[in-house]
Amino acid sequence: MTIALITGANKGIGFEIVRQLGAGGATVLLGARDAARGKAAAAALPDVDVHVVQLDVTSAASIAAAAAWIEATHGRLDVLVNNAGIAVDREYRPSTVPLDTLRATYETNVFGVVAVTNGMLPLLRRSPAGRIVNLSSGLGSLTMTSQPDPPWGDLNHLAYMSSKTALNALTVQYANELRGTPILVNAADPGYCATDMNGGQGFQSAADGARIAVRLATLPAGGPSGSFESACRTIVRASATSAPSSGPSAAGSSGSTTKVACRLRRRSSSSAALRAIPNSHARSSPRRRSNVRRRR
Ligand SMILES: NC(=O)c1ccc[n+]([C@@H]2O[C@H](COP(=O)([O-])OP(=O)(O)OC[C@H]3O[C@@H](n4cnc5c(N)ncnc54)[C@H](OP(=O)(O)O)[C@@H]3O)[C@@H](O)[C@H]2O)c1
Repeated sequence: MTIALITGANKGIGFEIVRQLGAGGATVLLGARDAARGKAAAAALPDVDVHVVQLDVTSAASIAAAAAWIEATHGRLDVLVNNAGIAVDREYRPSTVPLDTLRATYETNVFGVVAVTNGMLPLLRRSPAGRIVNLSSGLGSLTMTSQPDPPWGDLNHLAYMSSKTALNALTVQYANELRGTPILVNAADPGYCATDMNGGQGFQSAADGARIAVRLATLPAGGPSGSFESACRTIVRASATSAPSSGPSAAGSSGSTTKVACRLRRRSSSSAALRAIPNSHARSSPRRRSNVRRRR
């Protein structure tokens, strides 16, 4: 029986990851910083073996208590999905973002991931096939966001975007440290999903976004580690000498040629409309998304 912990799982993409992993037969630990919200969410999943774990990723005491409970109850952890995240700087540009906003974003999106991962690693090391999945974003990809043209060039939310870039970097660092162990560590970009984070503006459902995380959480032995996989299909890293493949690229990076081909439905096509979306997950138009080639 797989034991899986998902942080920030009382709603949105995290909740759908719980549902999908549970449907696959896992025992799912639904992390919620507010236990009452967690219980309400778990009550909506009568067919899932789900247990609520109070877990605020910014609280060392909360993380330690959750790890102690998991150890006492299950003895190990097979899957950790670092899903909890915030996006609170949508109204700012880099030149105007308050440092407190930057710090708060990093506390959850970066330091919280490190704290939870390190708190759970002793339990993950007891698993025969540990998996860590970090919920990233295309907005953390330097390849995508360094495109100067709109809409990518207009998306300039320093706190959220750089926090996801840092998340991609630490994904690689953990993967490198854990190479040679059964633990695989990968980053997943769920695509632009309609959740509370963006006022329901996403192009696809939270369930759609959950799939990529669930796939990385259930990778077979020998699967990739240190990769960045995007639901904004397909980021392909290609060297100058090899043909593009559909495999994952190193977390958030690109090779000499990167081809981005998204198959997401769109709600808005103009960069002005994308700027009007009330958060930082706006995506490029399908025309741009298909076959964007960038040379470095
Ligand atoms: N939606 C998208 O289009 C999109 C695109 C790319 C990446 N992502 C990433 O996907 C992940 C999930 O996003 P979402 O769209 O599902 O957002 P969401 O609906 O706003 O859900 C965020 C979840 O994180 C929890 N959370 C926030 N701070 C926390 C903390 N300190 N400790 C524990 N839990 C905390 C929230 O709990 P409360 O209910 O208590 O606030 C909530 O359960 C995030 O990492 C986000 O950056 C989302």
